[in-house]
Amino acid sequence: MEWDAKWIRPAADYGDVCPVFQKNFTCQKRVSSARLRITATGVYEAVLNGSRVGEFVLAPGWTSYEKRLQVQEYDVTELVQEQNELHVTLGKGWYRSPMPGWLWPERKAQLDGYCAGLTAQLALTYTDGTVETVSTDESWKCAESPIRFSEIYNGETFDAAFVPESWNGTEAFAGPTATLISQEGEEIREQERVSVARLFTTPAGETVIDFGQEVTGYVEISLCAKAGEAVELSHGEVLDQQGNFYNANYRGAKAKLLYFCKDGQQSYKPKMTFYGFRYVRIDQFPGGAAQAKPENFTAVAVHSQMERTGWLSCSDPLLNKLFDNIVWGQKGNFLDVPTDCPQRDERLGWTGDAQAFIRTACLNYDVEKFFTKWLADMAADQWEDGMIGHVIPNILNNEESSAAWGDAAVICPWAIYLAYGNPDILKKQYACMKKWVSYIATHTATPNLWTGGVHYGDWLGLDAPVGTYKGSTREDFIASAFYAHAVKLVIKAGKVLSEDVAEYTALYDKILEAFRQAYPVYETQTECVLAAYFELAPDCQAAADQLAAMVKECGTKLQTGFVGTPYLLHVLSGYGYADLAYTLLLRREYPSWLYPVTKGATTVWEHWDGIMENGDFWSTDMNSFNHYAYGAVADWVYCVAAGINTQEEFPGYERVKIAPLPDKRLDWLEAALQTRHGKISSRWSKQEGQWRYEITTPVEACIVIDGREYAVGAGSYVFYSGLR
Ligand code: BGC
Repeated sequence: MEWDAKWIRPAADYGDVCPVFQKNFTCQKRVSSARLRITATGVYEAVLNGSRVGEFVLAPGWTSYEKRLQVQEYDVTELVQEQNELHVTLGKGWYRSPMPGWLWPERKAQLDGYCAGLTAQLALTYTDGTVETVSTDESWKCAESPIRFSEIYNGETFDAAFVPESWNGTEAFAGPTATLISQEGEEIREQERVSVARLFTTPAGETVIDFGQEVTGYVEISLCAKAGEAVELSHGEVLDQQGNFYNANYRGAKAKLLYFCKDGQQSYKPKMTFYGFRYVRIDQFPGGAAQAKPENFTAVAVHSQMERTGWLSCSDPLLNKLFDNIVWGQKGNFLDVPTDCPQRDERLGWTGDAQAFIRTACLNYDVEKFFTKWLADMAADQWEDGMIGHVIPNILNNEESSAAWGDAAVICPWAIYLAYGNPDILKKQYACMKKWVSYIATHTATPNLWTGGVHYGDWLGLDAPVGTYKGSTREDFIASAFYAHAVKLVIKAGKVLSEDVAEYTALYDKILEAFRQAYPVYETQTECVLAAYFELAPDCQAAADQLAAMVKECGTKLQTGFVGTPYLLHVLSGYGYADLAYTLLLRREYPSWLYPVTKGATTVWEHWDGIMENGDFWSTDMNSFNHYAYGAVADWVYCVAAGINTQEEFPGYERVKIAPLPDKRLDWLEAALQTRHGKISSRWSKQEGQWRYEITTPVEACIVIDGREYAVGAGSYVFYSGLR
């Protein structure tokens, strides 16, 4: 991208204080169009003549900054006047916040040392056709802003009474230019406002707000106060066993808000940070915390702009709450990159979590643009040898990939292609997909399998030996199974792109043979799941039979972790165990999807028992209450329970197969999906001793009712079958 504006920074060091840049300019003639192109090293908020420019919160978003930095373009025609004042405030954002969770001390120090840089270009087109440009250069002024501190993990401090004494100089510096790209992703925006559900005093005597819903965003405060008074808030997700405020699970993230008031009526919301929270402890308030009223606080949910496309509902209120929690989990973790969680000291684009959840993500919302940008960062961060980082943007600088995490490189583009039918994503990612597969080939200890290396295994599987987070499934088994799957997806993608895939087809055959030889028996639920779902078992039915037997033997419980869980119900229902799949879905006791719901969850938990049956927390160090990965089960509800499926030959729901699978324990279930070809809906309900199916398809469909297939055109249909 061509860029001729300078990069500027404050001439003096402001420490933690966020700088505000200022440029005054005059429009000599009538303006027909004004467009501001802008980006920063950090996050920025631009204000032109008192009005905020655009709705993008935390712009320029998060990319692999060393390779790609997005430039936004805003139409500001309505905001320009004859005399103009442009202010741009910069926070540390992801560019400069030292992530407390994983970064090594030298890296943190390095990030701390990065400077707050701004580059911007305002193009004024006059009605006579002439164009004038106002660009960042040393004529811009700079001052300390009222934001005294702001950082992604630790929160924000704002002094409303602060007025800069003087405007100081700026200096030009050699900021990034070769890496500038136009905005690719969705904008992060304020999406919803959530009122206080309850303001109460805890047994420990603290004043706490409950918003009734875990959200990602921030609290807006409105109050009447005097200069010098302060509001201080701490954020948390859950209350502890005694009903007290708790946020030890945020680990190194302080997640604080400190606001110094000015005189009079005022309102404020953080501008350069975000928090994941349901509860807020009022640590300071004018006159004391007891003076705080519910109307002083509103939670503002912030996430990437995504159009809602999928809806699920049924006769079971607990299951409906789970569906709702899954959607909230997506909202809370789709803040420019798909994150593991929005609250503690990491909030990173963990690849393993993203690949587990992506199919559900694509059903709930239109996430094509969101993932296209993230996958471009993945390709940019991929090493020459094909290594894919554990997180994207890869700020952890790991040198080895983990199976199932790195496999996001193939699973995610394929899922996006199937959901939206647009081969562009495959074109863009194909090189990255192939390189990923060759990474495995060059990093395995055994040809045609993936053995050795350092992996996350079946992360958080319940069959984990004491003292580890990794389930008992053999790591080499997982790595080799995903290797086969990855090669299969490269073949499929290659075929869509009319590439020659002979080499990969031959490789796949060899992997399959080696896999069958190396792993003639399956030792865990996840091993059975992978063998059947990836069609690696010589007899997939036998693998599924074994899975069903294992589930029943351990008390009809799942034991799968991040790797096995997304496919568990698919394998059961796909091989004649629909009844058992529903039993697991509807189970209310630990471990199950509904257990957290019975414990009051409003998002999906990292652990099935984040809060255990006795009320204790699972742990302090790894206990997020907003981790979307296990929400992957919604995909089964859309695709199997309601039965809405795109067909591989007609991706993007250009043609569909609708094969509903009712279960008597529910009276009705309904799914609706807004596709690029129109809205599909599938509903089944009990009616006078029969199942009644109501199906609407905007495209040609193959409807399967009770094993019988009906080829239909676009339209609405009603079928009946016996209640079995
Ligand atoms: C994250 C996970 C992630 C994992 C890697 C955790 O800290 O929260 O969701 O996938 O690390 O095993």
